[in-house]
Amino acid sequence: MYQYHLHQRLNQYLKQHQLDLAGADNAVYTRFLANAEAIHTLYQEAYGSHPKGEQFFEELVHVLIRAHRERRPQLKKRDEGKMQQGHWYASNQICGMSLYVDRFAGKLEAMAGKLPYLEELGVNFLHLMPLFESPAGESDGGYAVSDFRKVDARFGTLDDLQKLQETMHQRGFYLMLDIVLNHTSHRHLWAERAKAGDKRYQDFFYTFPDRTLPDEYDRTMPDIFPESAPGSFTWSPEMKQWVMTVFHNYQWDLNYRNPEVLVAMVDTILFYANLGVDLLRIDAPAFIWKELGTTCQNLPGAHRLLQLIRHCVQVAAPGMALLGEAIVAPNDILKYFGEGREAGQECDVAYNATQMALGWDALATGDTRVMLQAQPVLLRKPKGCTWINYTRCHDDIGLGYDDEMIAAAGFNPYLHRRFLMEYFTGSNGSPARGALFSVNPKTGDARISGSLAALCGLEAAQEQGDAVAIAQSINRILLLQAHAILIGGIPMLYYGDELGYANDFTYLDDAGKSYDNRWMHRPLMNWQRNELRKKEGTVEARVFAGTRRLLQLRKALPAISDEGNLRWLSPHNIHVAGYVRSHATQPVVCLFNFGAADAWLTWYAFREQGIAPGTKLLDRWQQKEYIVGSDDAHLVVPGYGLMVLEVC
Ligand code: GLC
Repeated sequence: MYQYHLHQRLNQYLKQHQLDLAGADNAVYTRFLANAEAIHTLYQEAYGSHPKGEQFFEELVHVLIRAHRERRPQLKKRDEGKMQQGHWYASNQICGMSLYVDRFAGKLEAMAGKLPYLEELGVNFLHLMPLFESPAGESDGGYAVSDFRKVDARFGTLDDLQKLQETMHQRGFYLMLDIVLNHTSHRHLWAERAKAGDKRYQDFFYTFPDRTLPDEYDRTMPDIFPESAPGSFTWSPEMKQWVMTVFHNYQWDLNYRNPEVLVAMVDTILFYANLGVDLLRIDAPAFIWKELGTTCQNLPGAHRLLQLIRHCVQVAAPGMALLGEAIVAPNDILKYFGEGREAGQECDVAYNATQMALGWDALATGDTRVMLQAQPVLLRKPKGCTWINYTRCHDDIGLGYDDEMIAAAGFNPYLHRRFLMEYFTGSNGSPARGALFSVNPKTGDARISGSLAALCGLEAAQEQGDAVAIAQSINRILLLQAHAILIGGIPMLYYGDELGYANDFTYLDDAGKSYDNRWMHRPLMNWQRNELRKKEGTVEARVFAGTRRLLQLRKALPAISDEGNLRWLSPHNIHVAGYVRSHATQPVVCLFNFGAADAWLTWYAFREQGIAPGTKLLDRWQQKEYIVGSDDAHLVVPGYGLMVLEVC
């Protein structure tokens, strides 16, 4: 039935704010009405029976209206442009990089001076790692936030951030920032008030007088950092209560069963939107809803809140897209795009962590069969949503894809994972120089730390001064990068990788970092060294030029935009993975040989895709031409090589 009372209520609130509904504010009014029912229904499902549910619903509406009123005209204009463009984040023109401002440039005010470097590489989208206040020594790289609105003095001020955002937008860059939605630092004002005994703020967190419930939760909640932060609860001596801390003991989980928490965080999200964020990275969304007797991850309640957030953002800041940082199993990740009635209505973008890990799997084994097993699931992504594709980021590499996928490829899942751990730590004689992260003795699980160059063998090859091994490692780096850059979605480079930075062990001297070996792949940029990219023949020049060429290729080929236009080649040679990026006038076939030796691929693989013998193919990577041959002839893909074949 038509929601007469809801709309009357909304009209009343909108009038209180004196919006010009028929004039200047007509667009937001339309968006309000379009999203009102979903916002109301989702909110009611979560908070309908909460004693303060009604009160905070009204507050939520006021938050949206205030955010709209405070949105700068330039941002509203940018919203218009993006809405007209449609799924702007799926474009082949976007190339991203993730970086720590302090480790990359020093301060925020120095970042503008680094934009020419990024432009030289072809990057026009920046993920600035957490910038908001976070206590030194207990910061989890900025993911333990003590003030969501104050830029940490280490980086500068909010004003510096605002200036950088304006410069970035003027120069055609997009901005991505984080909202750390699941928890705050124990030094956040809310936590401080809770510690001081304020019941209102104690209800912002999950607090317990004794171990009864924590013990029950612990029975089903997996450890996230089993080595450095086992268990999911911490005793607060000030409060004399246990508090839920799923990540580190200084990160207190927010209690989203309390509507006041949701409204406060939507307000924060819209504050970031109004700073000019184009893509908001929602940190750890899998964890925001807890239920006893479950893993407290990926629960329907978490999806409900994400959908609610997304509808709120559509009203007040429609140009800001949402990225769900859910690093979860292949079947679970798809749910972050929304399902059923909400398909395509949750997160616009998600990390393709499965594909990232499968790239590493294929590199270590030289075999692409596990990667191919995952594709039927990953291709179920709804239209209009896209991936962040990457080879590594500031976090560890988890091997979280399904055992069934490994088994279907013909391997024993346990032994296969063991092999990968040995391979990436170099303990089975491989050239990789990584380390295990978060080893869980109970399950035998572990994740992997190490820079891209170190994991690809470049660090070891350089130490040995072995020119052949260096060349091979560079090919491995470019192979992995190419596979992520051309697959469709936003390619997200990780700073330092464009120059082949090795592991950095200086973190071991810092007590606030030494317990977390993810810092080994969070380097300090050395700008003197970076000049070597201009000196022909250096490793820096070779890696930088190769990466730049891949980004140029991506931008030159419209088929690389993510239009749901990807088909995998059927497996004719286990070492070679390939996909067709279809396009009305300029289709492209991308091939990646994950094996060390030349691989022979039957031309039948092309005929199967409707590319007839006699068709001309132009390899845009090597600038070589081929003619599709008969079924009994082969195309030879060099070891660790790639081809980007334009179908002419
Ligand atoms: C995300 C971040 C990671 C952090 C965690 C807790 O996974 O990427 O670095 O440790 O959230 O906030």
